[in-house]
Amino acid sequence: DGDVFKYYAQGHWNKSSSGKSVPIINPSTRKTQFKVQACTQEEVNRVMESAKTAQKSWAKTPLWKRAELLHKAAAILKEHKAPIAECLVKEIAKPAKDAVSEVVRSGDLISYCAEEGVRILGEGKLLVSDSFPGNDRTKCCLSSKIPLGVVLAIPPFNYPVNLAVSKIAPALIAGNSIVLKPPTQGAVAALHMVHCFHLAGFPKDLISCVTGKGSEIGDFLTMHSGVNCISFTGGDTGIAISKKAGMIPLQMELGGKDACIVLEDADLDLAAANMVKGGFSYSGQRCTAVKVVLVIESVANTLVKKINDKVAKLTVGPPEKDSDITPVVTESSANFIEGLVKDAKEKGATFCQEYKREGNLIWPLLLDNVRPDMRIAWEEPFGPVLPVIRIKSVDEGINHCNASNFGLQGCVFTRDINKAMLISDAMETGTVQINSAPSRGPDHFPFQGLKDSGIGSQGITNSINMMTKIKTTVINLP
Ligand code: G3P
Repeated sequence: DGDVFKYYAQGHWNKSSSGKSVPIINPSTRKTQFKVQACTQEEVNRVMESAKTAQKSWAKTPLWKRAELLHKAAAILKEHKAPIAECLVKEIAKPAKDAVSEVVRSGDLISYCAEEGVRILGEGKLLVSDSFPGNDRTKCCLSSKIPLGVVLAIPPFNYPVNLAVSKIAPALIAGNSIVLKPPTQGAVAALHMVHCFHLAGFPKDLISCVTGKGSEIGDFLTMHSGVNCISFTGGDTGIAISKKAGMIPLQMELGGKDACIVLEDADLDLAAANMVKGGFSYSGQRCTAVKVVLVIESVANTLVKKINDKVAKLTVGPPEKDSDITPVVTESSANFIEGLVKDAKEKGATFCQEYKREGNLIWPLLLDNVRPDMRIAWEEPFGPVLPVIRIKSVDEGINHCNASNFGLQGCVFTRDINKAMLISDAMETGTVQINSAPSRGPDHFPFQGLKDSGIGSQGITNSINMMTKIKTTVINLP
């Protein structure tokens, strides 16, 4: 069936025995763009079984060979950036240039991961016993890092390629096998990416990609006894997964309500430029997007004007034309955003632009004078709507930030590095950016959230380490 993209298992492309498919709706046209296989639980069982076997021999494959294959996959991925980016444009309405950047960034991530892996996995540790009281120098403990087994990777719709490879590459270099469950929107881009790994010549069964309905195979995958580690990026589902998963390491990157605190002495042009970039890139559909601006009252008017001047210059339209603001991923997402906007309207927020929506396309909107009783003060729109809360003191800003359920990133704009450091210490978030909008990259930086924003730490090095376990051998001397 040429219309339905096949899923990847046992080293080849397969049709599901379900005979069913899942449609992928183009966010711009709101028509079915592609279809993918609706895999069954039996197919998942088979994939898990073969992933387990394949991992055993992969773990014995020399590290340099694993790295070599990853470098090859990175090169092939970059060579095929155009067709993969085209899928991202059609499936998730990512602006054309950003779609290409996502693929290139992914290739770079894979290569860096291969290089980092050969270094950190290529060395172990030796401990001697006489440093602990009561011991002579009669024991040597050798410790090394061993793979976990089968890693289940579940990336979200907003980076179906990049957030897939940020899980796949560390898992593979560390000697694990991979089962990928891509998001429905973005599944075809992910399948193309998997094809690049296929072309690179990885052993059959080492990498599988199953597609289907979350309701059918979601829990089945995450609760499967064959899974030894889950790396998930997405929303609340992650909280549910962590409650249901077995006793296995979990890496979860969930939502965020990244706050931006702007002090009186800030470079307001720099702050405004970052608010617009941070708040509106990919139409606000990033967990690290600026989701609330907390600005000291005395500079609020100036900052709001500067942001508005930049918002006016944002282009709104189809992703193919590389518009800044493109349709949000689904109709239900657009409806949710609209709900937040209506609530803010009813409660008296100042609308800096008129609210405008056509289908899934929502025009960029800055909401001034937002107050804590409005939903938009706390919830993440995952859309092009940015609330501004005027604050009387830095403490008020910190308190607002720390009262959130989320704690992904935050940022502070000031020319005073001492103040910035104190604020960074006080903000309960995984990362604080000084004088820049929040952002995950560069991809080797640690990336983590506190509270409902997740568990574990990502970034290339941390992900490699997380996907391994320490193994020790103790030599007992006579
Ligand atoms: O929303 C996904 C998150 O990982 C953001 O990544 O690169 O846009 O900061 P980035």
